[in-house]
Amino acid sequence: MSEPFDAVDVIRAKRDRRELSDAEIDWVVDAYTRGVVADEQMAALAMAILLNGMSRREISRWTAAMIASGERMDFSGLSRPTADKHSTGGVGDKITLPLAPLVASFGVAVPQLSGRGLGHTGGTLDKLESVPGWRAELSTEEILAQLEDVGAVVCAAGAALAPADKKLYALRDVTGTVEAIPLIASSIMSKKIAEGTGALVLDVKVGSGAFMKDVEDARELARTMVDLGTDAGVRTVALLTDMATPLGLTAGNALEVREAVEVLAGGGPPDVVELTVALAAEMLAAAGRDDVDPAEALRDGRAMDTWRAMIRAQGGDPDAELPRARETHHVLAPADGVLGRLDALAVGVAAWRLGAGRARQGEAVQAGAGVELHAKPGAVVRGGEPLLTLHTDTPERFERAVAALEGAYDVLPEGDRPLEQPLVIDRIA
Ligand code: URA
Repeated sequence: MSEPFDAVDVIRAKRDRRELSDAEIDWVVDAYTRGVVADEQMAALAMAILLNGMSRREISRWTAAMIASGERMDFSGLSRPTADKHSTGGVGDKITLPLAPLVASFGVAVPQLSGRGLGHTGGTLDKLESVPGWRAELSTEEILAQLEDVGAVVCAAGAALAPADKKLYALRDVTGTVEAIPLIASSIMSKKIAEGTGALVLDVKVGSGAFMKDVEDARELARTMVDLGTDAGVRTVALLTDMATPLGLTAGNALEVREAVEVLAGGGPPDVVELTVALAAEMLAAAGRDDVDPAEALRDGRAMDTWRAMIRAQGGDPDAELPRARETHHVLAPADGVLGRLDALAVGVAAWRLGAGRARQGEAVQAGAGVELHAKPGAVVRGGEPLLTLHTDTPERFERAVAALEGAYDVLPEGDRPLEQPLVIDRIA
């Protein structure tokens, strides 16, 4: 079959800042998925998009072409409204774990089709796989049945959902083209729109531990995604949230599950509770339930009941002991004072080097590995006492994890206060 376009012409057009036509976009995404456009050609096009951007029409069409590369799910037969959340990824971001059962406890179905972590941000599936017996792979029938019975599902996104994105994301990862706003927005939104959720709340992270280091870039990404969702008929809202320092007091799989269970039991670190409740309120409002207080369901155990049912429905034992790493190493506070800064990216890289994350797709992760924080910025610390505890099964990893943390924190004189940044920076609807 002869092809209607030539990949080199499409690359040259974007290189020379021309807008791509709908037909060119449909073709290049489809031809790449079929293997007609080669990886090196798509890499060149992705770099041209990163450098020269895309118009709203181009991004919208690119997203539609990625959706059309695969199957769409259909939740319209459920008796409950659906709402989903997507985070652009951060360090210690375990919010999905308490959030999905919390929102489901109000009768809203939460289909959380997730991925595994690559690089310094952990994947939700890797975290849940530290629960003994829990399985991530579910059939479409199992997903629908669990949404109807329990209300919340966290599982692996099937290969049939936006396959063009799977291929393109892997290519971007190795060609320095992940950070292009049109490509991030279309990647995330193609999967969420194909998934078929009725409402979507985006948690767009800003700061050292996030893709977007700068608040204006994060705002542009959020606006682009909200527009894509709204144009596709999905009620979409974004919160811009701080990722200068890790969320909560843990980064690492089982460590984060333990912290999420504390939140579900009505405790847990205040920042994790604040963000869980803020995102839950947005999801519930978008699903038509702005008459309820999500914080109450954390206090009275309803969210915990749904968590236990959600874990059991996927073969997990909510009462089982979570794995612990065999070895620990303390990083000590260098002086008395107030913790001024604790860099999210450095903690994420340290957790990853300890074995909590993977360097290549398909590698196994250590369930118990990660970093435990004993103080957050603004807290008083004592010189010589533990600031961080590093956990791993393989102690030869400590040295490189400690190296990642060099220069990652500072201790201010007692009485000084670090610059305070609100956790929720902005809301974009
Ligand atoms: N997450 C995605 O799914 N895609 C991106 O491009 C970036 C983050």
